[in-house]
Amino acid sequence: MSADLAHLGYHGLYTPDPPATLQYFVDLLGMDIVAVEGDSTYLRACGDYESWSLQVIRADHAGSAWVSWRTAGPEALQRRISWLESNGHSGHWVPRDRGIGPSYEFADPDGHVFRLYYETERYQGQRPAVPTGFQRYAGRGANVRRLDHVNLLARDVRSCRRFWEEGFGLRTYEIVGSESQEVAAWMSSSIQGHELIYTQERTTANGRLHHFAYVVDSREEVLRAAEIFADARVRIEAGPSRHTAIQGFYLYTREPGGNRIEVAHGGYLVFAPDSEPYVWNAEEWKAKPGWGAPLPPEFHLYGTPDVS
Ligand SMILES: [Fe+2]
Repeated sequence: MSADLAHLGYHGLYTPDPPATLQYFVDLLGMDIVAVEGDSTYLRACGDYESWSLQVIRADHAGSAWVSWRTAGPEALQRRISWLESNGHSGHWVPRDRGIGPSYEFADPDGHVFRLYYETERYQGQRPAVPTGFQRYAGRGANVRRLDHVNLLARDVRSCRRFWEEGFGLRTYEIVGSESQEVAAWMSSSIQGHELIYTQERTTANGRLHHFAYVVDSREEVLRAAEIFADARVRIEAGPSRHTAIQGFYLYTREPGGNRIEVAHGGYLVFAPDSEPYVWNAEEWKAKPGWGAPLPPEFHLYGTPDVS
């Protein structure tokens, strides 16, 4: 079961200001537009093997439109759909879109929209010199390689964690909390320390996005991204610094539509097949061992759609 999900896939992002959001993704993050259709713009990062990975969609509010997983094969896709449908999480099919899908769309226990798909088209555009690469080196803006992870806010972190563990075999690498209340969980379909993160929703809202994170090649490139954002007058909310959980190096800004976006590098890998989640208790977590800078209070409150 754990092998049924291969990796995080294409994702959708709502924005009330598509022109400004696209300028952020293209000029500052370094992604490329591959198609425009109606209220949607399709983008890719230079490390994506698939033809596209992000759909920016005009809406009256910011937020995640969906997060997806590519499955290991067509049978794996059917197995996970069967589990969803026999456990009260039935969804519906979304037609193929520009080479990706059909996708099965459903919701997690907090109401975030997810999709599962297997069929995809490989990128056939600007070929790199080394044939095992996917695209010619972009070298523009922060030059992000691909989506690294997504962090969602949830009213009940534990039920979301169990949903993915029991239904999809995701591995949980770290948890913050106690028997009475769990406030954060870092999960993955692979040895990568985090692909899907849930943290505590502190409002009465559901289905909100905390951030999408895009990976760059080195810690130095995270610092370089900070220079780029600063000169573009994009406010830096947090970082550059290192997280305590999973130990990834981070830099957080908000794209002009309001969604929080991270430029990330690193985070540990888990090779041990029998690793157990590390459970932080409240005192230990508050002590914040290591050298990472404290996060501003708004970091734990703000999400999209904004409900403040
Ligand atoms: Fe992150």
